[in-house]
Amino acid sequence: MDNLAKAAEALRSAQHIMVFTGAGVSAGSGIPTFRDELTGLWERQDPQRLETAQAFRENPALVWGWYLWRRQQVMQAKPNAAHQAIHRLSGSGRSVTVVTQNIDDLHERAGNQEVLHLHGSLMRPKCFACHRFVVEPLVFPIIPAEGALIEPPRCRRCNGRLRPAIVWFGEYLPPGVWKAASQAARQCDILLSIGTSGVVRPAADLPDIALASGAVVIHVNNVDVSMNGPNEIMLIGPAEKILPQLIALALT
Ligand code: APR
Repeated sequence: MDNLAKAAEALRSAQHIMVFTGAGVSAGSGIPTFRDELTGLWERQDPQRLETAQAFRENPALVWGWYLWRRQQVMQAKPNAAHQAIHRLSGSGRSVTVVTQNIDDLHERAGNQEVLHLHGSLMRPKCFACHRFVVEPLVFPIIPAEGALIEPPRCRRCNGRLRPAIVWFGEYLPPGVWKAASQAARQCDILLSIGTSGVVRPAADLPDIALASGAVVIHVNNVDVSMNGPNEIMLIGPAEKILPQLIALALT
């Protein structure tokens, strides 16, 4: 039996499924990943200049302009067949928990409502000083190009600068989100790990937590990222192609 059939059979009999996604699940929507050769964001930009609280303190306009550009990319993108297949799986009567490292809202726009965002979200900024999440409507300027310098707006409550509500390097994950995600990893029968390089912890520990709890881990990635353990299944190829085939097979 080939790996796709094996993975479909495992999904068919699973009751508790955890879907764990990284930037690769949104690559098919035209959103750049972080570490892919040439196309990855970190090939062109230094994350230390853009993805830390220190970077924001030193140059708020650079960091805010960068996020406005990425938010604009996300708003122009559409969920792809991988996001839609995950939503179909969620509606199949099994308990499915979607946990993502991504800061886009493509899982939500594909129909998944309860998504655990380990690294936050681009959609709603918060205040750098008092941490209030912005609830009032914000007008986001059109960003001409990556790297535009845009002074961040001010918080209505304390007049501090607004920042993207995402987890920067050196910051903690939202405690409630990590607790729910690691619990789902311990309780699932199957963890479907899609489009992640597995290099950023603690998020990257989730498949290991699932394996240690006796689950099967199915990896979907352009490259082989498995450790070839007895409870791992590796499906090599683009998620937007593999997932619709896998979910269709699993749900027949
Ligand atoms: N289908 C499946 N996998 C893909 C596809 C695709 N179409 N395109 C790329 N990939 C794979 C790459 O092979 C790689 O393993 O997706 C993975 C993307 O890895 P990264 O760019 O490192 O993204 P991710 O794993 O999500 O990064 C984790 O790092 O910078 C931080 O906060 C950021 O959440 C991010 C975290």
